[in-house]
Formats: sequence, structure tokens, C-alpha cells
Amino acid sequence: MELNPNLSSIITKPAPGLSEGTTICSEAIEIDHASGVYLWDSSGKRYIDMFSQTWSLPLGHNNRKVIEAVKKQLSKITHLRTAYSTKDKIELSHKIIELAPKGLVKVNFVLHGSLAVEGAMKLAINYYDDRDKILYLEDGFHGRTLATMGISWKLPESKFKNYFSNGIEVKKNLEDIEEKMRNHNPAGIVIELIQGNSGCNILDKELVQGIRKLCDKYNIVMIIDEIQTGFGCMGVNFLCSEYSVVPDIIVFGKAIGGGFPLAGTIYKEKYFLQSGDHSFTFAHNPVSLTAGLAYLKELKPVLDNAKKLSPLIIESLKNIEKKYSNLKNARCMGLKGAIDVLDDNGMPECKNADLIVSKLLKKGLIISNSRYRQLGNTLMFQPPLIMTQKQLIKAFIIFDSVLQEVYPSNNPENSSTKIFKDFIKFDFNFNKN
Ligand SMILES: Cc1ncc(COP(=O)(O)O)c(C=O)c1O
Repeated sequence: MELNPNLSSIITKPAPGLSEGTTICSEAIEIDHASGVYLWDSSGKRYIDMFSQTWSLPLGHNNRKVIEAVKKQLSKITHLRTAYSTKDKIELSHKIIELAPKGLVKVNFVLHGSLAVEGAMKLAINYYDDRDKILYLEDGFHGRTLATMGISWKLPESKFKNYFSNGIEVKKNLEDIEEKMRNHNPAGIVIELIQGNSGCNILDKELVQGIRKLCDKYNIVMIIDEIQTGFGCMGVNFLCSEYSVVPDIIVFGKAIGGGFPLAGTIYKEKYFLQSGDHSFTFAHNPVSLTAGLAYLKELKPVLDNAKKLSPLIIESLKNIEKKYSNLKNARCMGLKGAIDVLDDNGMPECKNADLIVSKLLKKGLIISNSRYRQLGNTLMFQPPLIMTQKQLIKAFIIFDSVLQEVYPSNNPENSSTKIFKDFIKFDFNFNKN
């Protein structure tokens, strides 16, 4: 997708000393420790984590059972080559296959999402003798290695562009996708169901189901990147089940490690990696694999919480949208909520989005804004599954108080308490915290 020239004037450069992809605040605080939905900095100040450390901690920080399992594993062995197994590695592999959609029967582990996506690319390319192109959806994001940057949204000028020839962008419409499938003979297509990095774009069911049909028609490998949506935050193990679609390969990451680095792919029998294709020194870290197993055991009883918290998140964002004319497009699926910050002419407004995020941090609330193409105007929220109703409402009251400071003239008579009074009807108590 070409960048709208009207937007060039509002693109913000990262603040000095901060790199692209780093939120404006993250270097300002030094974290000492964390527990559940809270983090504490070195001065003892407490923060509510409403972004689960970039969509990674559906069980919150330092889940007791995960940490206990990890401590036990640490006393046994911390590093093994991929050629070796542990009891937990085998059990985790079986568990993942058990939870996966029918037909996905093989699993491969690595330590990071980008490497897992590259694994999926290799699986698709290996399947054909003469195909090596991968289609990706506009606004999609699949990682920061050179190969995955080639199948992700890009900055207009990138020094790495010579490495990007593997990727072909398709628009979010079936005509364009079919045309590219016919003319480029790709091995696979990779999509996210919710494009999180570009600002929480929720894909339509018809589009996703249409892509599945086209993949069958042209014999193309369908890869769904569930690194953000898998294993927890959507209230289901894999979001593709809500779309009634079974892909050929699912990529997972982030949540599964329970705070430890773990990612991988699940795929159909007919796909394969040759020996040495995708093997890394630390790929099967025994500690991460143990954490993954403990995480899945802990996840089961709280998975449904996403469906209880989701209505509260969207109600809060809609109330905020009603109150502040500069905040628009409230959206939420599962625990993934977002709202756009616009200027008075309805154009993306990055400076105020940055200001809101940094003011929130000062008040002890961590959220993030998307740095998509340096248009950081989407505010994104993702509480852990274990957040209580009370904590969530508190977080939105803090959000509202910051918005009152940034937009003092917006409906001043509408107080926070009024905004949230309806929420009292949601009376669930699934977390004693
Ligand atoms: C959808 C998606 N795919 C891939 C990645 C890359 O994962 P990692 O940062 O673990 O390499 C991310 C990271 O944010 C992601 O959100």
C-alpha cells in the first residue's frame, strides 16, 4: 500500500535516542519487578500493564506455576541441542497438536516469532520444486528478520530493500489476491487475522474464508500468523476457529512461553523441513519448553475470561469515543482493543497519541500506540486475562483523566464516573487480587 501523501506532514520521527519500534516511553522507566497485572519500577512506583508487554502475557507477569516449573527445570538442565528431547518437550508437542485444528499434526519450535514465520515460509517453499514467492496482505506484519521484513508493511525508504524480493503484497480484496496468485505462482500466502502491529485491523470472515478457497483452487499454502492471537488473548486457543478456517500452517509465539522465549509452527503432514533447514543452536530451549507446558496448563481455566472482559473493553472505548470527538473507530475483539487519535480535520494525529501514551505512563498505566509506517496514532490496549473488572475500570478512568487533560473542551460535563456507571452491571469476579 502506498502511503497517502496527505499523511506525510503528520509522520513523526522517533524521538532522539529512541529507535523505530520503540514506544516513546519505554526507555524512561527502569523496571524492578512484576506480578500479575502490575509492574514496579526501581523507585517503587506501580504500573498497570494494559498491553501485556506487547501482547505477550495473557496470564500476566510471573505466573506462580510457570515460575515454579521453570525453577525445577533450571535445576535439571538449561541447554540441549534440538536433536535431544525432554519429557516436557514431548508433552508440550502433543498438547499443542491436541489443541490445534484437525489435520495439523506436526510442530516445530524456535525462540522468536520472526524465526517461526521464516520456518513457515521454508515449509511452503520446500513443498514445491519451482516456487519461492510468498504473498502477504497489505498492512500485515510478520517480523524483523530480513526475510520477514520482506513480507511485512514497509517504510517508504528502507536500506534493506534488496532483501525483500521474496514478498509480494496483495490488497485486502479477493480479486487482487486471485490475480497475484494466478500471475506470480507463489508458494504460500501469509495473513494475520487481526493485524495488530498496524493498529488492530480485524479481518472480515468472508475475506479469510475466500483466501482459503483461493489457496485450494491454486494449490497455495495458507499460513496464518497467530503469534498475537494464539493461545489465550482471544478466548480460544487459535483465532482461526472463530473464522471457521483451517490453514495449512499456523505460526505461534509470544503468549505460549508464559514470559519465556518460545515460538513455532504447527502444520499438515505433507509439509517438511529438510535436516538443517531450520535448526538453531538454542531453538529448543528446555526452560522455555517447560514454561510453555506450564503455561498451557494454567491457561485452560482462565481462557473464558477474554469473553467476559471483551464487552467491558469495547464499552469503555465506545464511551470514550462518544465523549471525545478526536478519538474514533473504537474496536475490540477478545482482549485486543484499539481507538484512533485524529486531529480536528479527521486526519491521524500522532503527536497527541504519543502525548497520551507518555502521560498515561506517568500516571502508572502502560498502553501502546502503533508505530505503523511511523503513523503512531492508534492507541492499543490488551489487558491480561487475569485482570479484574475493578482493575480494568480503574485503567479506563486513568485513561479518561489523561484525555481530559489533552482535550479539555470535549464534553466536560460527562464525568468518568458517569461514563463507567453502566459497568457496575457486569459483575464477575474471576480473580482474587
Ligand atoms: C503478528 C506478528 N508476527 C511476527 C512477529 C515477530 O515476532 P518476534 O518479535 O517474536 O520475532 C510479531 C511481533 O510483534 C507479530 O506481532
